[in-house]
Formats: sequence, structure tokens, C-alpha cells
Amino acid sequence: MTKAAGLRTHYCGELRAANIGDVVSVAGWVAKRREHGEHLAFVDLRDHTGVVQCVVHDDTDVRSEFVLRITGTVAQRPDGTVNDKLPTGDVELQDCTVEVLSSAEPPPFPIDSRADDVDELVRLRYRYLDLRRERMQRNLRVRAKVNSAIRRAMEDQGFIEVETPMLMPSTPEGAREFLVPSRQRPGEFYALPQSPQLYKQLLMVGGTDRYFQIARCLRDEDLRADRQYEFMQLDTEASFVTQDDVLAFISEAVMAAAEVVTGERPPEIQQITWHDAMDRFGIDKPDLRFGMELVELTPIFTETGFNAFKAPCIKGIKVQGAAGDYGRNKLDGLTDRAKSLGAKGLVWLKVDEGGESFTSPVAKFLSEREVPEIISAFDAEAGDLLLIVADEWLQTCEVLGTLRNDLGRPPVHEGPYRYVWVVDFPMFVGKDDAGNPRPGHHPFTHPHPEDIDNLETDPMSVRSLAYDLVLNGWELGSGSIRIHEPVLQARIFRLLGISEEEADRRFGFFLTPFRFGAPPHGGFAFGIDRLTAILAGEENIREVIAFPKPQSGIDPMTSAPTAVEPQQLADLGLRVLPPST
Ligand code: AMO
Ligand code: AMP
Repeated sequence: MTKAAGLRTHYCGELRAANIGDVVSVAGWVAKRREHGEHLAFVDLRDHTGVVQCVVHDDTDVRSEFVLRITGTVAQRPDGTVNDKLPTGDVELQDCTVEVLSSAEPPPFPIDSRADDVDELVRLRYRYLDLRRERMQRNLRVRAKVNSAIRRAMEDQGFIEVETPMLMPSTPEGAREFLVPSRQRPGEFYALPQSPQLYKQLLMVGGTDRYFQIARCLRDEDLRADRQYEFMQLDTEASFVTQDDVLAFISEAVMAAAEVVTGERPPEIQQITWHDAMDRFGIDKPDLRFGMELVELTPIFTETGFNAFKAPCIKGIKVQGAAGDYGRNKLDGLTDRAKSLGAKGLVWLKVDEGGESFTSPVAKFLSEREVPEIISAFDAEAGDLLLIVADEWLQTCEVLGTLRNDLGRPPVHEGPYRYVWVVDFPMFVGKDDAGNPRPGHHPFTHPHPEDIDNLETDPMSVRSLAYDLVLNGWELGSGSIRIHEPVLQARIFRLLGISEEEADRRFGFFLTPFRFGAPPHGGFAFGIDRLTAILAGEENIREVIAFPKPQSGIDPMTSAPTAVEPQQLADLGLRVLPPST
């Protein structure tokens, strides 16, 4: 804690028994006032460091959230009034002189932990009051620590911070952009950056070597617990590096941030390939805090007589000891959930007493050979519930991965921090309406060198040099080694169905520079809001952002977005159409 100065000699939360006898001045807000016999009252004064109890004369008019400066003598609290729950609970200020610096209307909700139960829209409408609370002050400070730790870690690794423009042309990052109309060129628009991706690559062409930025990014997407319109990235790019170099730079920054917040440096971050993540956890952001891994069953059913299991891939998950908890309704619910995820169905088996047979509507379809093999594959015991899906490999994995999370995943901030690098993502994921493969990361990602020859013949099997960092089942960040050779870039555009003219029109400004000598380069960006939320023990990134937008996107404090004056629209050459019906 820095030393208090100005109107005060000490912060409220720092007074201890060692200060007894000192005459001190503190300043802050009235957290609570209690009457105490004749003409005396206890005032709990709060600042960002905590509260201290002050004994004041009853004739001063002080009420909740008044701003006071109190000068008094630190004294031992009388026997029986010590408060163990409060760091300042051994002492109080006596012989107090009170100056009222500001009076205050009664706040719309209590400025303490009871506000956690207040409707979030009310908290956000009065965010400046919400921020006075200990939880919010702690979160802002965790965030500041994370920012300064990652800045230091990047600088120590030879990265320099460079700012990139907020007004730019549209870029292909996948989300919808916010557009800004140009006054000079009516009818034309800037886009706000979804990320500094293109500029940071041009910084590499520009010989900057190692760049980072704590960058504001803007994306017009549906808001969720881990998504805001505006968010912050640690954005980086480096030249003449391999994928392992990039992972090491980022690991260092993340570990430094985790260490300043938790006091503990996480162990080295393990890697898993995308294929193994899907195969074992059914998701590309596996939560490693719990088991319930997908169990491979395909070989057991090569000669099955059960039609549902005549499929390329059969896997299952074991919900330990859950057979008794799942009655007919809950099992139907699980089946519906699986179907809503695209499964053709869900087989459930309850392991009977004795551990050698099943209760299940499909038990009669399982052969005498299959039953013990299933039990052994799951390492199942009496009372376990087994859930099985049969389909194409990816579909089977994804359905079971979602069920695994539904049934086993703890809240994101709970328990240990389990970081994992997911590497070797597929180059393309799915197809667009025209039947062209869609880029898995973005169109500037380098294919895996071992797979380049298959680009045209078997594009969907090609891996890329793209990687994600995952923490407790949340995607913290993504990155890739980029394409730096124009010939390869043109080849990828062809595969994506982007014509030369379209490429030139959309990203000509980005592609031309690569004809002037681009170094091999790669980078990464992780979401500072997400990392901070998890480190602060929060479920929602809104809790670690000073002024976030609620789910609706409409700010209850400022009412933004708002209509503007007709003249402002006229200046921009804009006319607002009535909403279409
Ligand atoms: P990507 O789009 O995966 O990659 O974003 C990187 C990380 O940014 C965070 N993030 C968000 N956080 C809060 N609200 C949002 N709406 C939001 N969207 C993204 C996530 C995500 O993992 N330019 C590339 C990186 C690169 O290739 O170097 C990029 O932006 O934590
Ligand atoms: P059916 O033969 O369609 O009546 O299905 C018999 C049982 O198998 C039902 O419980 C279905 O939910 C289940 N089932 C059907 N298809 C699949 C599948 N592809 N994977 C897992 N379970 C399935």
C-alpha cells in the first residue's frame, strides 16, 4: 500500500494495534452509522482499502455515503468489542473531529456484499456506487496488476509496445464490425478494429521484430458471460520465430500475471493436439479440472447386431455412481439434449449390482461378449451410469464433450487453474454456402508444413500452425504462425474461393506489402478480461470491467446507444430508415 497523503495521513483499512496512540486523519464514505448511548455514534468509514470504526459525537449530521474527513486518536477497542472479522477490528478512532466533505442522498442499494443480490441492471445503472464496494475495488486492482505484469513480462522478452489505429478498413476476423461513418467522404465508413491483426503483421514487414499491445478490440456480437463488444487483448507478434517460441512468450506473460495475483507460479503449461482434445474431451477447449474422459468403444462393436451401433465411431462417458440419480425423466432429458446437439440418439446403461450386467432399454441388443468388454473399457462398477453415442468421429466426440461439460464441469473460477495449449488445429472447418472450406482461424494462418502437399487433394485433413490457450474450459486466446509468402497466400485464397480481384479489393493494402520482403512471423492474442475474471474468481467478465455493457448491449447508466441530432446525420450524409417490419 502506498503512503496516504493529501487530506489524510492514513487509509481506513491500514490502521492496526501498532498505531495505538497516533493522531491520524482518514477520509472516505460512511459505510454504517450506529447509535451508541448518549450523544455518541459509531461511524464505519470506508475507503478502497477497507473500513475503520470511528466514535463520533451524535450532533454531527452524518448519514450513509456522506464523504467525511475524520481526525482522531487510534485507540484499543474496549474488551468485548474487538471484531475478528475486520483487519482493523482491534482498534477504533476516538476523540474524533468530523468534517463533512460531501453530503449524499440515500443510495439505491446497500454498498456492501448485499448488492451482489441486486439486479445487475440496477448495479450497472449506478455503477459508480457499485464500484465503491470491496469486491469491485478488488477486481479493478487485480486487473491493473494483470496489465502491469504482462506489460513487464513482454518488455523483459524484448517486445515493444506499439499503438495501432482504431479507424481502419473492414478486416476478416469473423465477427461483425462496428462501422464509423466518414464525414469527409459521405457514404464511406471506417471499421473499428476487431483486433490489430493486419497492422501487427505489417509491423513485422516493417522490421519491428517483436511487438505487443494491450489493445482494445471491438466486435458487434451477441454478449455473453465471456463476451463484450469492447474487450482488451494482450496482442503480440514476432518475426523469425517458431510456434514453440510464441507459446513460450505467451506462457511467460500468463504465468507472470497469474503469479502476481495468486502468489503462485503455475507449472509449465502442457500441450495437447486438437485431435487428442476432441478425441478425449470432445471439445477444443478442454476443461482438465475433472476426468470423465471419452471412452473409445468402436472396436467392441465391429460385429454388432444393434443397428444404432453400426457407425464409424462409438464412444461413451461414465457418470460415476449416478445410476440412482437418473430416473426416466432425467434420462429422457439427456437424450433430448444429445439430439439437440445433432446426435441420432443416446444409449444409457446403468451398471447393475454385481457389476456384470446392465439395466437399459437396449441391453437386449448387446451380446454376451460385448457386455464385459463395455464394463472393462469404462472401468465401470455397480451404480455407474454409462452414456454412449454412435456417429461420425467428430459428431460423436462433440456430443459427448458437451454432455461431459453439462454433467461434470465446475464453475470456471473454482478449484485449481488448469492451463493447456491446444495445437495443430485443422486448417479448415466446415464449408460455406458455396461449398468452399472455411478457415479454422483466419485466412492468413500458415498450413502445417507436413500437410502442405495435401492442400488441394484433401484440404479437410490439413492441419495448421494455429494454437489456442485454454484455462478451465475457457478459450483465453488464439494465435498462429502466418503465411509470409504471397504465392502460398494466393493458393489459400483460391481454396477459400476468394478470387484474385476479391482478395485485392478486400485486403490489397495488406497483401501488397508482402511483395516487398516479409519475414516469417507469428503471434497470439489473449483476452485480458477473461484471464482477469478467472484469476479474480469471477464467473462473468463484466465483474472485472469498470463500465461493461449488460447482455442487451444498452448501457443503463448512459443510455448509449442514443439517437443523434438531425444535423449530425446530415453532416455525415446519413438518413435513418424506419425499422423494417
Ligand atoms: P481471437 O479472435 O481468437 O484471435 O481473439 C483472441 C482472444 O480475445 C478474446 N476475445 C474476447 N473477449 C471478450 N469479449 C469478446 N467479444 C471477445 N472476442 C475475443 C478471447 C479470445 O481468445 N487476431 C487474432 C489473434 C492472433 O491470431 O494473433 C484474434 O483476435 O480471449
Ligand atoms: P432406435 O433403434 O432408433 O429406436 O434407438 C434405440 C436406442 O438407441 C434409443 O435409446 C436411441 O436413443 C439410441 N440410439 C439410436 N441411434 C443412436 C446413435 N447413433 N448413438 C447412440 N444412441 C443411439
